[in-house]
Amino acid sequence: MRSLIDILELSTAELDKLLATADDIIENPQKYAHKCDGKKLATLFFEPSTRTRLSFEAAMYELGGNVLGFSEAQSSSAAKGESVADTAKTVSCYADIIAMRHPKEGAPLVASMNASIPVINAGDGGHNHPTQTLADLLTIHREKGHFDNLTVGLCGDLKFGRTVHSLIAALRRYDNVKFVFISPNELKIPDYVKDSLKKANIEYTETTDLEAVMPTLDILYMTRVQRERFFNEEEYLRLKDSYILTPEKLTTAKSDLSILHPLPRVNEISVAIDSDPRACYFKQVLYGKYMRMALILMLLEVE
Ligand code: NCD
Repeated sequence: MRSLIDILELSTAELDKLLATADDIIENPQKYAHKCDGKKLATLFFEPSTRTRLSFEAAMYELGGNVLGFSEAQSSSAAKGESVADTAKTVSCYADIIAMRHPKEGAPLVASMNASIPVINAGDGGHNHPTQTLADLLTIHREKGHFDNLTVGLCGDLKFGRTVHSLIAALRRYDNVKFVFISPNELKIPDYVKDSLKKANIEYTETTDLEAVMPTLDILYMTRVQRERFFNEEEYLRLKDSYILTPEKLTTAKSDLSILHPLPRVNEISVAIDSDPRACYFKQVLYGKYMRMALILMLLEVE
């Protein structure tokens, strides 16, 4: 039995297989409509979510399965003081697979060590978000056809943005990928992420100036400033609008730039960009559902 806590638990060969399965689901959805008949997914969300929870649920329904769960800590026994370990043991009696989001880094790992069914990390604090990375990878793959030789700009809250941390881990395994980190000084990428790049001899640059690097980018991954991780509301208010992507700022961008954002968007991308063919963030939402379908099939060992 296998869980997914960190994106690096999947080899690049396994990622290729998930991408191929997702592509096949897009082409032949009816082939998959009964793959999970009689199976249940539990969505245990101790933090707010729209896309991740609903796409997991839609994924399970489209595979013929069923869904149970809760969408806030207050409506679960966590509110009475139950531990994540006990919750995981309990839910193992009711479901076949768990998707868990939690504000504490490491909580889904603890759940996986106590559950008797697979656990998927649906976001743990400011740490990791492997299934968003699956959505991001399918988007990049369908837009570009490959992961090698890409210059990837990540912009916004690189300190607390868990989707950024998981995406860098996944992409650094491909050839000649270059990273450009664009953030205010207060929200720079953590040292542990930079150390992982240095160790692997991977090129990266850090800047505060989005417009200066715009012409070099193949991918621009925008992120929201993660208000819920700040200790100080004033600091959040000062930093929240550090980067706002507008059509003017895109004038120097490549014509085949792909603009991604895990969403929710607050102010980081002007709605005027939504109709630009380079905007991929709503496709990315849809692709997330297909990758979660492929992942559920893999972890439940459905042929
Ligand atoms: C992200 C998350 O929860 O980390 N959202 C998502 O799952 N698509 C990004 C964010 O909340 O800013």
